[in-house]
Amino acid sequence: MKLFDVYPLFDIEIEKGKGCLVYDDKGTEYLDLYGGHAVISVGHSHPEFLKAINDQASKLVFYSNSVQNHLQKDLALKLGKASGYDDYQLFLINSGAEANENALKLASFHTGKKKVISFKKAFHGRTSAAVKITDNPAIVSPINDTFEVAFCELNDAKAVEEELKKGDVCAVVIEGITGVGGIHIPESEFFVKLRELTTKYGAVLILDEIQSGYGRSGKFFAHQHAGIRPDMITVAKGIANGYPFAAVLISPEFKPKYGMLGTTFGGNHLGCAAAISVLDIMEKENLVENAKEVGDYLMQELAKIDIPDLKEIRGKGLMIGIEFNGSAKEIRSKLLFDQKVFTGAAGTNVIRLLPPLCMTKKDVDLFIERFKKAL
Ligand SMILES: Cc1ncc(COP(=O)(O)O)c(C=O)c1O
Repeated sequence: MKLFDVYPLFDIEIEKGKGCLVYDDKGTEYLDLYGGHAVISVGHSHPEFLKAINDQASKLVFYSNSVQNHLQKDLALKLGKASGYDDYQLFLINSGAEANENALKLASFHTGKKKVISFKKAFHGRTSAAVKITDNPAIVSPINDTFEVAFCELNDAKAVEEELKKGDVCAVVIEGITGVGGIHIPESEFFVKLRELTTKYGAVLILDEIQSGYGRSGKFFAHQHAGIRPDMITVAKGIANGYPFAAVLISPEFKPKYGMLGTTFGGNHLGCAAAISVLDIMEKENLVENAKEVGDYLMQELAKIDIPDLKEIRGKGLMIGIEFNGSAKEIRSKLLFDQKVFTGAAGTNVIRLLPPLCMTKKDVDLFIERFKKAL
């Protein structure tokens, strides 16, 4: 059998990692400014993280959601404390798309409605409802096309209110910082307005923090820069440092009912151990603060470079986009193959920097040196 060929792959096989570095099967070292797509939070092969998953794996990898699992409760307590949402409820699943799928389902159960407001350039995943609220018709199949979505411009509160006024909206879904769409930061006043409007019109406000959350922006969640509290928050990627795991944080206004949501693998023992270990390490190593400090330093050092064809540099913490007027493909390719630096892309013109949150200023200096050479 051969693989279903849907990924355009670089001809590089990554074999191991350490902190902010990864190594291929020939032993070549790469600086990782991509974090495997914003997934690596506490760093590759963190010894405490490895010990936590090894210890858990040697006891029990999985048992079903039909029995008590104190690890889920421990995780909920720690996540509530770390994020400032200790009065919220936690539902655990396996991927970002599933987190959004369940949040949308809950919003629809709660309001009895099914239209959703999303935003231009949004990406929310590839399962049925998540892909329908993603602003990319090319990946929406006919079977996903089952409810109405209004795609508003980011920061256009008037357009959002016009849609909400129609009275058929169950949820407004927005990324804390638009990731796949190219690192666009919604204005704080816009977040505040969305909170006001969704409350006024009885719609649920869902913050997709799958890429921007878990400390990446220099606060636990990116929306916390605006001081709002959404009704639901979806998280994945950094939550378990590469172990597939995700969650929905659900406000107390939502009352659970047996059977309303469910999953086989979600909240499994090994994933919980990984996620608990991530929160412990984040606290011990002040990784949210580190993301802010090192992210600010990275922005400051980037601003000193005379970058040809540059349009704009945007970002918060360790979530940074470098946008060019033309294509960034050649620079990314030089960074990877000549300078041995992994970066992300958004479309053709934006380089996305999404390093592990343990990145140091020394790593930044190394990146800046190699970036200059690649220009
Ligand atoms: C903001 C956002 N939401 C949802 C997803 C989907 O997550 P997953 O690929 O784990 O389903 C992604 C993935 O890139 C994302 O960036």
